[in-house]
Amino acid sequence: MSWRKKSNLDWLRAIPAVKADEPLATRTSFGIGGPAEFFAEVARVETIEKLLTGCVEREIPHLLLGAGTNLLIADAGVEGLVIRVVNREHSIEGTRVRAGAGLKMMRLARAVADADLRGFEFAIGVPGTVGGAVYQNAGCWGKELREVLVEVCGFVPGKGRQTWTPLDLKLGYRTSALREGALEGALVVDATIHLERGDGEEARQMMARLTRERSETQPIKTKNCGSVFKNPPGDSAGRLVQAAGLKGLREGKAVVSELHGNFIVNEGGAKASDVRKLIDRVRAEVKRRFGIELEPEVEFTGLWR
Ligand code: EPU
Repeated sequence: MSWRKKSNLDWLRAIPAVKADEPLATRTSFGIGGPAEFFAEVARVETIEKLLTGCVEREIPHLLLGAGTNLLIADAGVEGLVIRVVNREHSIEGTRVRAGAGLKMMRLARAVADADLRGFEFAIGVPGTVGGAVYQNAGCWGKELREVLVEVCGFVPGKGRQTWTPLDLKLGYRTSALREGALEGALVVDATIHLERGDGEEARQMMARLTRERSETQPIKTKNCGSVFKNPPGDSAGRLVQAAGLKGLREGKAVVSELHGNFIVNEGGAKASDVRKLIDRVRAEVKRRFGIELEPEVEFTGLWR
């Protein structure tokens, strides 16, 4: 039986924070995707927990959204409730930093540098939120969140608040138990990281240099989802795409970046179906040429036909 029964729809419609038929494209870095059937943007953790628990109890499909940076939302949109997590507070005690899941990693990178802490400069190259970074153990320039992560406060519907160590989270290359494993569907409330005392000015200079380098090798000013594919062991997806002669390949307004082969750029008005077709074409050609199966890093969500 469909979840879309009167009592469930009445429950959703009675929640003041919840809006119906809300556009999502502008809430993703790709700028692509249809609307959320129901949508709430919430900073108060207790409210997020209540919404999540209500959805699970009522079997209403739901999606937790951060900065929407690693996501391809279907053109038909997302059914059920999309909860955008925007708790963005952070606190610093000595060399320990606790940050809300909705805070952008880049913003946190600047804040900790201003507090004269070192070891988080890599986060200036991570476009998503703290919650998203935990979810997929985000990284840049060979460093990953797990290297500085101490613990994560989370919430499991029906079980309540929990504290997870990096071991509990089973952090791997661009994955965790939240993305694929025992903690699927759980909420990241906040994360605590441990950094080193140092010179904030040096940290800022290093971040400026890293950002300059990234802008030379990645199309950072365009609408994109970050790396489309995970790097296969011992190789680079970008290198393989280039070697297969696929830079510039296009479907509609979606095009494989000329600057970096592991990026697909939305030139404006690209459809999710265009991107998906392009991804399939790239995978097929790389497989044909080199026998390597590229695994998407970007997550497909919503109503794919
Ligand atoms: N390369 C090419 N052609 C290209 C792109 C890359 O030959 O079009 C070569 C480069 O010359 C280099 C190698 O491939 O020798 C690796 O490329 P790069 O240094 O750009 O790093 P990457 O492996 O493609 C990874 C992360 C990025 C992160 C950068 C910088 C993955 C899938 N990607 O990219 O993360 O910003 O390192 O540290 O692990 C993301 O996850 O969304 C992301 C952007």
